[in-house]
Amino acid sequence: MRYNFDKTINRIGSNTAKWDEIEEKFGTKDVLPMWVADMDFRVAQPIIDALKERAEHGIFGYTKMSDSYKEAVCNWMKKRHNWESEKDWLIHSPGVVPALSIIVREFTEPGDKIIIQSPVYYPFFDVVKDNGRELVCNSLKEVDGKYIMDYEDLENKIDNKVKLMILCSPHNPVGRVWTKEELVKLGEICIKNNIKIISDEIHSDLVYKGHKHIPLASISEEFAQNTITCFAPSKTFNIAGLQSALLSVPNKEDHEKISKAIAILDIRRDNCFGAVATEVAYTSGEEWLEQVLEYLEGNLDFLVEYIEERIPKVKVNKIEGTYLVWLDCRELGMNKEQLSEFMIKEAKVALDDGYWFGGEGEGFVRINIACPRNTLEEGLRRIENAVKNLK
Ligand SMILES: Cc1ncc(COP(=O)(O)O)c(C=O)c1O
Repeated sequence: MRYNFDKTINRIGSNTAKWDEIEEKFGTKDVLPMWVADMDFRVAQPIIDALKERAEHGIFGYTKMSDSYKEAVCNWMKKRHNWESEKDWLIHSPGVVPALSIIVREFTEPGDKIIIQSPVYYPFFDVVKDNGRELVCNSLKEVDGKYIMDYEDLENKIDNKVKLMILCSPHNPVGRVWTKEELVKLGEICIKNNIKIISDEIHSDLVYKGHKHIPLASISEEFAQNTITCFAPSKTFNIAGLQSALLSVPNKEDHEKISKAIAILDIRRDNCFGAVATEVAYTSGEEWLEQVLEYLEGNLDFLVEYIEERIPKVKVNKIEGTYLVWLDCRELGMNKEQLSEFMIKEAKVALDDGYWFGGEGEGFVRINIACPRNTLEEGLRRIENAVKNLK
C-alpha cells in the first residue's frame, strides 16, 4: 500500500510529549514543535491492525518474549544489516536509556570513567553522572562541517579508570553513519585497552542512500564479545510510546549479568502491546519503512536547499542517517541563551538546543524533520523571517 506522509495529523490532546509538553518545556504554547525524536506520521498499517486485534482479545496479562518474536528480530538484523544476531543474545528492556543506566551500574564502580563522543544525545551524560561515574568527553572533530572521530584524543584520555564507552551509531545529533573503517579503528582501541562498548544503535534503520549501517558487533567475533548492542523498533517505526527496546549481548557472562539486573528490577517482561508491535514491525513493517525513508530524504533535501538559498547564515550538511538535523547557527552571533530565546520567542519553533548535547553544541540547534513537508516548510519559514528581522 501507499502511505501518505503529507497528511497532517493533529496530535494535540493525545498526551504526546512533542506537542503536549511544549509549554512545560519551552514556557509557551505558541511554538511549532520540532524537537524530541518521534515522527508526526501514522505508523505502518500492519502494526495498527495487529494492535487492534490484540486489544480486541480483551485480556492483557503478563507477556512472554515468544520464539517468533525473537526470530522476527534476528531475521530483520540479518536482512537489513547482514548481522547474524542470535535469539539467545536478546534481552528485553523498557527502553534503551534505562538499559544504558543498568549497564553503567553493572559494569563499572562509582568513580570509574566512561567515554562518550560529544556532542551527543544528552541522556548519555546523565546515565554516567547521575550514577556517580566520571565522564570523559572524546569530542568529535568537525572538519568542513563533517564530524569525525578523534582517535588521538581518545587514546590520550584513556587510563586504567576508563571501563566503558557509550557509542552512538548512527550518531545523534550529528547524523553520521559510521563507516566500517571508523568503527574498526575505534573498536580496536577499546579492545586493546579493555574498554567495553555499549553501542546504541537505535537509529540504525534510518539511513539514507549511499550509506550503510554496520552493527559494531557484526564486525568480528572479538568485537561481538566486547559489545553490548542496544536497539529498538521505536525510532524506526515510530512506536516509542510502546516502550519496547532490546539488547543483544553475545558474551555469555555479560548476558547473565544484565539479565539478572533486569530481573531484579522486575522489568524483564515486555508489555503485551509492545511485544505485538515489535514482532509485526520487524516482520511486516519494511514496506512502510522504505516509504518513510524516501519521504524523509525528500524532507532533508528540501531543508538543505531551503536553508542554503534563504537562510545562508545558518549552515547545514546533509545528514547520513536519523531524522534529526544539526544546524550550525554560530554566524548569528548569539550565545546559547540568546539562541534558545531567539528560536522560541522570535522564530516560534521548539527545537533541541545544541548545548543540551554538550559544550561543543553551543551555537547549534537540532531540528526534527519527521513531519509532513508543509510543517517543515512552516518551521523553516518562521526561522527565515526571524533571521531577516535581526538587526
Ligand atoms: C541515541 C538515542 N538513544 C536512545 C534514545 C531513546 O531510547 P528509549 O526511548 O528507548 O529510552 C534516543 C531517542 O532519541 C536516541 O536518540
